[in-house]
Amino acid sequence: MLSDYKKLTLNSLTLYNIASRIMPYGVSSNYRYFEPYPLYLSRGKGSRVWDVDGNEYIDFNMAYGALGIGHSNPKLVKILKEKLENGTILGFEFADTLKLAKIIKSRFNVDMVRFSSTGTEATMHSIRIARAYTRKKKIIKFEGHYHGSHDQLLVNVSPEKNEVMKKSISSYGIPYDVVKNTLIAEWNNYESVEKLVKKEDVAAIIMEPIAMNMGLIKPDVSFLKGIFSLAKEYGFLIIFDEVKTGGKFYSGASGYYGLKPDLITLSKAIAGGLPLSVIAGKKEVMRVVGPNKTAHGGTFSANPLSVTASIVTLTQILTENSLYEAYKLNSMLSKGYQDFADDLDLDLTVSMWGTSGSIFFSKVLPKNYREFSEIDQRPWYKYFWLMLSNGIIPMADYDEQWTISTQHTKEDIMKHLEIAENILKKVKEEFKYR
Ligand SMILES: Cc1ncc(COP(=O)(O)O)c(C=O)c1O
Repeated sequence: MLSDYKKLTLNSLTLYNIASRIMPYGVSSNYRYFEPYPLYLSRGKGSRVWDVDGNEYIDFNMAYGALGIGHSNPKLVKILKEKLENGTILGFEFADTLKLAKIIKSRFNVDMVRFSSTGTEATMHSIRIARAYTRKKKIIKFEGHYHGSHDQLLVNVSPEKNEVMKKSISSYGIPYDVVKNTLIAEWNNYESVEKLVKKEDVAAIIMEPIAMNMGLIKPDVSFLKGIFSLAKEYGFLIIFDEVKTGGKFYSGASGYYGLKPDLITLSKAIAGGLPLSVIAGKKEVMRVVGPNKTAHGGTFSANPLSVTASIVTLTQILTENSLYEAYKLNSMLSKGYQDFADDLDLDLTVSMWGTSGSIFFSKVLPKNYREFSEIDQRPWYKYFWLMLSNGIIPMADYDEQWTISTQHTKEDIMKHLEIAENILKKVKEEFKYR
């Protein structure tokens, strides 16, 4: 409960009081702030993290999915120590980048690749490339999908209930003019896309192929395929933002669904916790990038440490086998929650894909942001505070999901479930479910 969290995290509170005077809300990313004050961590190892009060947690947030290989993975640590001796950034192109480009090309079924450092940069560049290639302006995004913190896609990310499907800008400081070419469609609603592409001259549609910023909401396969047919008919590009999904299934969601979008973006787990992102896709589209053509740059793009980390991560750690093992643990965790829902007669639904999953305190799985926004959040927050106070970080926030890393064990899952069962009983008592 909140009072337990406060008792256990006095040093976090002290740090917050100091930090919030020199850093807005005491954090480096808005998403790390939560009420009443954020948790300050000091280290991580394997499946665990420790906070500044010395509390140990089994971590299922895994840096918002960026740590598919777990904390401080020994294989990565060893090679990075060696590589540090050769420089951090070199200014000119680092030779091993080509090796990584080849790995990405064959694993994610793309023709050409460019590297940046963050997911935000990758999606920002992807829409510029799509506009340059099609010479059109309009971009469709889905309500509830998040593509990073650049202006043009910060629209209808998490609108209030009464603002659903009315165009709303998700941050102060973004003039309407900047987002007037961003159009909003509803996830799993084919007609909402069709209506827009019939009326407007659309350059591209960008989507999280599995929505992971409103829990975890999968697309209907017919809906996804329908969008590919519309793209052919109306001549717009499809961008899969695989910043999250790319590290949770061997060849990402595009591989899982057997689809080839025009462009994909990758980041988070693919470099084992170092900053690296990818914009990749079909040859003819990627070829618009270049000097005096379409801008793409970055001092830190493909820095040697991130490139090395990504090569090791993709070839030695996030392998098909290890991802399958993590998937099995994920199935065990998801089934555990499903069993509690049945046994305790709870209004609880579970959604899983690859190495991630999430729970919703509702009778049926939400299909889109509208349904997600209608779920009462209070039981979730009670569950969250109790899990934290019992040494489990179940996920980072209400709209997030858990990630099973290659360092989680069966014992971690069993411990998680044992604690969750007791907590769900308390949630049921307080909210009188059913
Ligand atoms: C699907 C998706 N795309 C893009 C981003 C932005 O990535 P970054 O935080 O590295 O800028 C995120 C971040 O959570 C994301 O979930």
